[in-house]
Amino acid sequence: MTNLIGVVDSGVGGLSIWREIAKKLPNESTIYIADSKNCPYGSKSSEEIYKLSKKLVTFLIRKKVKLIVIACNTITVSCLSKLRKDFPETPIVGTVPVIKTASEVTRNGKIGILSTTRTAKSIYQKNLIEKFADSLKVLNLGTDKLVPIVEEGEINGIQIDKALKEVLRPFLDFNIDVLALGCTHFHFLKKQIGQILGKNVLILDCAGAIARQAEKVLKNNNKLSVYNSSGHALLTTGDLNKFKILSRKILGRRFESILIKRISL
Ligand code: DGL
Repeated sequence: MTNLIGVVDSGVGGLSIWREIAKKLPNESTIYIADSKNCPYGSKSSEEIYKLSKKLVTFLIRKKVKLIVIACNTITVSCLSKLRKDFPETPIVGTVPVIKTASEVTRNGKIGILSTTRTAKSIYQKNLIEKFADSLKVLNLGTDKLVPIVEEGEINGIQIDKALKEVLRPFLDFNIDVLALGCTHFHFLKKQIGQILGKNVLILDCAGAIARQAEKVLKNNNKLSVYNSSGHALLTTGDLNKFKILSRKILGRRFESILIKRISL
């Protein structure tokens, strides 16, 4: 096993989790794969999502990573348990919305969850709601409108604003006071979502929780890096130039020098 952590998503969304891991664990080296060629996953069947994500995970297993982080709610709810069965030697951390935290901090007992369609309809998410928010009023909504807009780099401006206003309307009508983000692409829209929902609605993403979980798993397995240096690579299955521009726009200058490459699986 090498000293690398592998992180996967259908596109750039998982960079929100990857960024948290890179900040929290500065001695760790990582490989991130965005399956940009097949993004979005949210409108695909569970079987298709399993087939695609197995290819991503197989690539990382061949690189002999010590931990895999599925930085995608849609993959997690569709096939995390299958992937764990397929690759039992390597720990795999999944990503789900922080419904437990949402239910602890709500004051009016009305929470919202915004995910992709696949995630919102999944039994996995239904079970999480039953487990952590059974006594609350929960509006669990899915949309496949936002991910393609984020993938185009339109995280500010009229197009995303219009789409968000439409998607978020039901949450305003439902009078939620907490919204849990159930898609890693939406983490990059947090500010814009906040502007529409207003200051009385708390918006929770799960990036910090996943980075903490990654640290915990590495610690428990005695795999935390002891070296005081790190290296990162961002890989895409799609158009290299587009991914370079988009990831740099999303991540900002701090990560400008990172190696970015195209791969085919
Ligand atoms: N970023 C992903 C998630 O967390 C998937 C988005 C998509 O490909 O539809 O669900």
